[in-house]
Amino acid sequence: MNLILMGLPGAGKGTQAEKIVEKYQIPHISTGDMFRLAIKEGTELGNKAKAFMDQGELVPDEVTIGIVKERLSMDDCQKGFLLDGFPRTVAQAEALENLLTDINESLDYVIHVNVPSDQLIERLTGRRICPTCGTAYHLLFNPPKEAGKCDKDGAELIQRKDDKPDTVEKRLEVNLEQTKPMLDFYNDKGYLISVDGDQDINQVFEDIDTKLGELSK
Ligand code: AP5
Ligand code: MG
Ligand code: ZN
Repeated sequence: MNLILMGLPGAGKGTQAEKIVEKYQIPHISTGDMFRLAIKEGTELGNKAKAFMDQGELVPDEVTIGIVKERLSMDDCQKGFLLDGFPRTVAQAEALENLLTDINESLDYVIHVNVPSDQLIERLTGRRICPTCGTAYHLLFNPPKEAGKCDKDGAELIQRKDDKPDTVEKRLEVNLEQTKPMLDFYNDKGYLISVDGDQDINQVFEDIDTKLGELSK
């Protein structure tokens, strides 16, 4: 299955992606995670992305489209993929259509995790992530078993640099602007599935799973 997961910052893309890829056995492709890894490793890509990410701005389309093109050409994507956080602009969505046509693929569904924007600040500022495996927790909504430590590997949890209040507001503003045209783009193509993301994490997954199951029949 070729899937896109879209939603505003903090909507729960990463949280749901973890569950979807486990069930459907497809690779999880998060452009945000790819940029963060590149920054950590100090690569050229990391240098290009860092200033934009720290400011809560989008990384330029040509950089982002380039890394997705490279990633989708890897062998593991032949069994499908789940894109998380890409595309984020109509220009990226159009570029993706062309990339997929070139490799004789097409999208199946675009899952939109819908959460009212007034809840996202609390989700983002309370998020803590594992620097080793990338798992996201929340101080109140999804705490680790032992405070401050990753359930999977025991690493000390950290806060993402762009989860500080000032940057969070900028990210929401930038992404809100792009959301409506993207939803229209995918709705017109008939790919769009919307789920209510303002529910318990497991319930959101159940709704996604049910809709995918019904549609694939
Ligand atoms: P990216 O890493 O994709 O960040 P984002 O889109 O801002 O989304 P987040 O990862 O912050 O949120 P999420 O939806 O994954 O939520 P999560 O599951 O963690 O991108 C970062 C930056 O990279 C961008 O700002 C940009 O600079 C650049 N970039 C990336 N892609 C780009 C592109 N295509 N083009 C240009 N630039 C790009 O959940 C959030 C919190 O809420 C967690 O604490 C979680 O535990 C909690 N939570 C999750 N679900 C629930 C629930 N149902 N109820 C209560 N709490 C919940
Ligand atoms: Mg994420
Ligand atoms: Zn971990």
